[in-house]
Amino acid sequence: MNNAPATNTAPVTKNAPAANTAPVTDDAPVTVTVIGLGLMGQALATAFLKAGHPTTVWNRTPAKAEDLAARGAAVAPTVGEAVLASSLIVVCLSDSAAVHDTVGPHRAELAGRTLVNLTSGTSDEARETAAWATDFAYLDGAIMAIPEVISRPEAFLLFSGAPEAFERHEETLKTLGNAVFFGEDPGLASLYDVALLGVMWGTLNAFLHGAALLGAAKVDASAFAPFANQWLSSVTGFVSAYAEQIDRGAYPAEDAALETHLATMKYLVRESAAAGIDTDWPARIQALAERAIEAGHTGAGYAGLIEVFRGQA
Ligand SMILES: NC(=O)c1ccc[n+]([C@@H]2O[C@H](COP(=O)([O-])OP(=O)(O)OC[C@H]3O[C@@H](n4cnc5c(N)ncnc54)[C@H](OP(=O)(O)O)[C@@H]3O)[C@@H](O)[C@H]2O)c1
Repeated sequence: MNNAPATNTAPVTKNAPAANTAPVTDDAPVTVTVIGLGLMGQALATAFLKAGHPTTVWNRTPAKAEDLAARGAAVAPTVGEAVLASSLIVVCLSDSAAVHDTVGPHRAELAGRTLVNLTSGTSDEARETAAWATDFAYLDGAIMAIPEVISRPEAFLLFSGAPEAFERHEETLKTLGNAVFFGEDPGLASLYDVALLGVMWGTLNAFLHGAALLGAAKVDASAFAPFANQWLSSVTGFVSAYAEQIDRGAYPAEDAALETHLATMKYLVRESAAAGIDTDWPARIQALAERAIEAGHTGAGYAGLIEVFRGQA
């Protein structure tokens, strides 16, 4: 953490927050501060306001607080005052460096409160911030939702860090969506986040490649999409079955052997080349299977590829 001063020194114009030193009680709504009013921060602050939490906001560019102020949020002129206004401080900025620049100089004001960092980052960054947070409770979090989904049932958020802080604020955090806690290693929420995003990107890349392939045959992406979605629901079954094999350390070919997959992967590469579309994605899929087979996993099922991803093949 560096000790850079807070960047926002604008005067209080609307709904000035009061310093909050009251303990959390069962009947009083938890006071919440949201630091960072980008696309996601706006959605977070809106959800807290709608749920009846006295909500204080701060943003580097003060104009982004105007709409929230009109809907009842208190606007803090400085980060320090924003922190003092609430018992639960939620920060959602572009990256870890912005978090350090913004809340880093405010350790004293944070003392005795809970800081929840919903900014994306690496597990090491989360652990570094947790190690810095000695006088207050720290939860690292990740948001598995887009802003418009926040507070809807399909939104889910991942948390790790101080268990007592999660227990104390679980109900308030559930305002944003389903809240899952992974325990006291503060890096785990970020690690789940990137692993889940990898699943998303891999799936979307596969869909986009398929759409390009069928598009070359004049099939619209919207005609392909229902079939892609139906097939994805089958693939979720494979995920569960392969997870069990991976944990067991045995990859029997209960459905199809890797060689069977490899033969079909070659058709995907050939079709892509024939259609004049990019072959990088299918060629990488093929190369991974070839490496597993070269490493002796002939006859294994698809889950045997885990050894390639582990760097052991
Ligand atoms: N949007 C999503 O769908 C989504 C989903 C899951 C997770 N997230 C995560 O949520 C975080 C915020 O995303 P977003 O979509 O809200 O981004 P965004 O719209 O670009 O907003 C970024 C926010 O960070 C602030 N900021 C950046 N650098 C700063 C600095 N040095 N000092 C102070 N404030 C600074 C910006 O302030 P200014 O307004 O002054 O520029 C703004 O409030 C990211 O970590 C993102 O990965 C986003």
